[in-house]
Amino acid sequence: MNWDDETDRIVAPAADGEDTAVEAALRPKDLGEFVGQEKVRQQLDLVLKAARQRGATADHVLLSGAPGLGKTTLSMIIAAEMGAPIRITSGPAIQHAGDLAAILSSLQEGEVLFLDEIHRMSRPAEEMLYMAMEDFRVDVIVGKGPGATAIPLELPPFTLVGATTRAGLLPPPLRDRFGFTGHMEFYAPGELERVIRRSAGLLDVEIDPAGAAEIAGRSRGTPRIANRLLRRVRDYAQVRADGVITREVAATALQVYEVDGRGLDRLDRAVLEALLKLFGGGPVGLSTLAVAVGEERETVEEVAEPFLVREGLLARTPRGRVATPAAWAHLGLVPPQQGVTGSAGQQGLFGV
Ligand SMILES: Nc1ncnc2c1ncn2[C@@H]1O[C@H](COP(=O)(O)OP(=O)(O)O)[C@@H](O)[C@H]1O
Ligand SMILES: [Mg+2]
Repeated sequence: MNWDDETDRIVAPAADGEDTAVEAALRPKDLGEFVGQEKVRQQLDLVLKAARQRGATADHVLLSGAPGLGKTTLSMIIAAEMGAPIRITSGPAIQHAGDLAAILSSLQEGEVLFLDEIHRMSRPAEEMLYMAMEDFRVDVIVGKGPGATAIPLELPPFTLVGATTRAGLLPPPLRDRFGFTGHMEFYAPGELERVIRRSAGLLDVEIDPAGAAEIAGRSRGTPRIANRLLRRVRDYAQVRADGVITREVAATALQVYEVDGRGLDRLDRAVLEALLKLFGGGPVGLSTLAVAVGEERETVEEVAEPFLVREGLLARTPRGRVATPAAWAHLGLVPPQQGVTGSAGQQGLFGV
């Protein structure tokens, strides 16, 4: 089976070309427009206001949180609020310390350097970054071999905004050099409704409150997914309905795209169904589960499972993946009686 067409990616974390363009158009431009994340927003507001009052460059900021929660958006807002230009790059793009040196040495005073996926930077670049963040200095290596010399280079003060989906993977010396860390949480349904109504306004689509609530409930707490579902529902409303997004239009459209009432897509449901129907609810090893749904281990582990775990539908245990009672209920299935081993009794054959 192929999960890779447009429909199946509807709730997946990866962004496609259309996404990138539309996302840019839907990005809030200042803190006032940024919906939700009250804590991070207030804290950041203080950090930025204080820096502005002092006429100083803002402290380095680390933003952590799942994909699609607004890290890139916030980095742009930080630059906008500081009236500063922004340079955008990412950890994987900086493989050599020299790449980083080139970027750092061309920064203007007060500029915001956004380093996405900062946990994926190479080690030597990371070490160069320590000194740049702390002392606004880099050592540029000139020449090769024994004749190579390090020339210290002063940098203008700048603000590093690092983003990571895995704050736990950052080495402590790097984490410690950020003056402020904002942890982004998943959004409450009411907040997502606000995101959706705001986006609908920008896209010039008519949506009623119940329609927004319907989409919000299936958006996995994630604005990027909310915006993506909104666009698909808009397509449906335009072609099949009179263009207005009501609860019914939203529900029917999302059924067409196979996003269920709780936001599970086809892959999520396939994983749960295999776990319940083939393995009696587990425990079953990840590899076995992946084979059963015809997917790569990584896809099951990184695309489907985080959401299923968060929803309390699946648990990762040392013995393997286990379905919770809520999973049985969600798929409308009845769990086997306690003590009765159905196909689950065979899981030992597969290992974990
Ligand atoms: N708080 C928010 N309010 C409104 N829209 C948001 C918010 N956070 C994110 N978005 C929208 O979600 C999309 C993804 O946000 P982005 O900043 O790219 O997420 P991340 O960088 O964390 O993956 C953007 O199009 C943005 O418009
Ligand atoms: Mg981003």
